[in-house]
Amino acid sequence: MNCILKQNESSWDAMAESWFGTTALPVYGCYIPTEEQLQLFPDLHGKKVMDFGCGSGHSLRWCAEQGAKELWGLDLSGKQIAIAQKFLTENGLHPHLIHSAMEAEYELPQNYFDVVFSIYAIGWTTDLAAAIRNMAGCLKTGGHLIFSWDHPLMRCLDAEQERLIFTGSYLADEAFSYIQRGQPVTVQNWRLSTYINTLADAGFTVERLIEESDKSCLDRAAEFSSGYYTPWKASKIPLSFVIKARKL
Ligand SMILES: C[S@@+](CC[C@H](N)C(=O)[O-])C[C@H]1O[C@@H](n2cnc3c(N)ncnc32)[C@H](O)[C@@H]1O
Repeated sequence: MNCILKQNESSWDAMAESWFGTTALPVYGCYIPTEEQLQLFPDLHGKKVMDFGCGSGHSLRWCAEQGAKELWGLDLSGKQIAIAQKFLTENGLHPHLIHSAMEAEYELPQNYFDVVFSIYAIGWTTDLAAAIRNMAGCLKTGGHLIFSWDHPLMRCLDAEQERLIFTGSYLADEAFSYIQRGQPVTVQNWRLSTYINTLADAGFTVERLIEESDKSCLDRAAEFSSGYYTPWKASKIPLSFVIKARKL
C-alpha cells in the first residue's frame, strides 16, 4: 500500500464515527439534484449492487429499500467497514463487505453486478485507471456504473468579494493535501476529460454527465460567503458532478 493510502486509511479510521450517514444515496453531493430528481439508477428490484467507498453503509441501505437483492461494499477504512456491518445488520440486512482500497487487487466476483456505484469516494483513489478497471471487471456487460465527486473546477476557483476568481489550473490532474476534521488527508483532482477517457479505456460508454445545481439554490438569491461549499457558489457553478456509464 502506498504512503498516501496508509495516511488516508488511518485518518478515515479516526474520522469514521463523525461521517455516519453523510453523503449517501439518494444524495449525490453538495447542492446538486438528488437521485429522486435525476432517476439515474435502473429499477433495483432483485438486482446485485456494489458500492466502492461504502462508508457507513447508508447508500447500501437505500439500495435495499429500492428492492436490491444483494448488497456488496468495499472501503479503505476497517473502521468504516465495521460501522457499515453493524448499521446494515441492525437494519436486518446481510451485506458482503470488503476491507480494501478500490484500486488494489482483491477478489471480487467478475461480470456479476447489475449496478456498481460510488458516492463521493472516487477522488480518494490514488489510481483512477485501476479503480475503474476493478469496477468494470465486477460489472455485468450492459450494467451501469454511477459515481459522484467534487466538480474539478472547485479546485481552480476562490470566492472573494462576491466574485469567483480563477486561481488554479484546469490543465493539471493533481493530488492535494489538507486537514479534514483534524486529520491529514490527500485527495485527487482530475479533469472531467480524464474521467471520461479513463471510462472509455476500460470499456464504458458515458450515458449521462450531470453538472447542475439544485433548483432550490438557483431559485433563492444566495447570500455571499467565501466558504468552500456554499449556496452562493452553487448558484454560479456545479459543486459536484455525477457520471452514469454503461459497460459495453
Ligand atoms: C465521503 S465517504 C463516502 C460515504 C458513503 N457514500 C456512504 O454512503 O456513507 C468516503 C469513503 O471513501 C473511503 N475511501 C477513502 N479512500 C478510499 C480508497 N482508496 N478506496 C476505497 N475507499 C476509500 C473512506 O474510508 C470513506 O468511507
